[in-house]
Amino acid sequence: MSIEVSTSILSADFGKIAEALQLCARSGVDRIHVDVMDGHFVPNITIGPVVTEAVRRHTRLPVAAHLMIEHPWDYIDAFAEAGADIIVVHAECYGERRAACRAYGQYPKEIDMLDAHRALADIRRIKARGRKAGFTLNPGTPVECLLPVLGEVDHVLVMSVNPGFSGQKFMPSALEKIAWLRARGFEKDIAVDGGINAGTAPEVVKAGANVLVTASYFFSSQDPAGVVRGLKSLAG
Ligand code: DX5
Ligand code: ZN
Repeated sequence: MSIEVSTSILSADFGKIAEALQLCARSGVDRIHVDVMDGHFVPNITIGPVVTEAVRRHTRLPVAAHLMIEHPWDYIDAFAEAGADIIVVHAECYGERRAACRAYGQYPKEIDMLDAHRALADIRRIKARGRKAGFTLNPGTPVECLLPVLGEVDHVLVMSVNPGFSGQKFMPSALEKIAWLRARGFEKDIAVDGGINAGTAPEVVKAGANVLVTASYFFSSQDPAGVVRGLKSLAG
């Protein structure tokens, strides 16, 4: 299976976003990852449809919008119109939150069971807009929650850090989740997001992931093309 590298512009210089996107293309990156945060689902605020639309204008690479927001259903159309090719929603928006994270400001958000009906409605809505539907889950949410949607999603994104910030340490619990998905026969994209670097990438690829998302490892490197080459060389 070949490996695709998806760079998260969260670690790019937002004053020079077009140049950052050119650097990605020149370095052999396969996809652009846009981290959308609302200050409610996660304790940080980043990018919305307006910037996503600007990203779209400055790259030919596929753009994935990772929606770390409450009520993603209110924004699916906006991100489709902004030109996102893949729209990724969080499992934790489609189920009853654990008591420890129900209140405002209690993070990370986690669930134990998915409301499959609501989740599938949004997955179908993304696909009806001609976009690929991605589904993701926080490190504390069990991977079994995804069972009801696996037949319909185009893309699973396994979070290997609690969402909110780039530059965090990789959480190894992601490895079991990836292996579980492959063992269930899930053959589409499995992306991993958070703490990817030369040390952690071989393990996630061995577990079965084929899309590696990176922000800080790529954008802080003196040799970004070398980073991409190194990650892609992990293909089995
Ligand atoms: C975390 C974001 C990630 C993050 C990855 O909330 O979803 O995409 O930017 O950053 P690194 O690669 O630095 O861990
Ligand atoms: Zn992300």
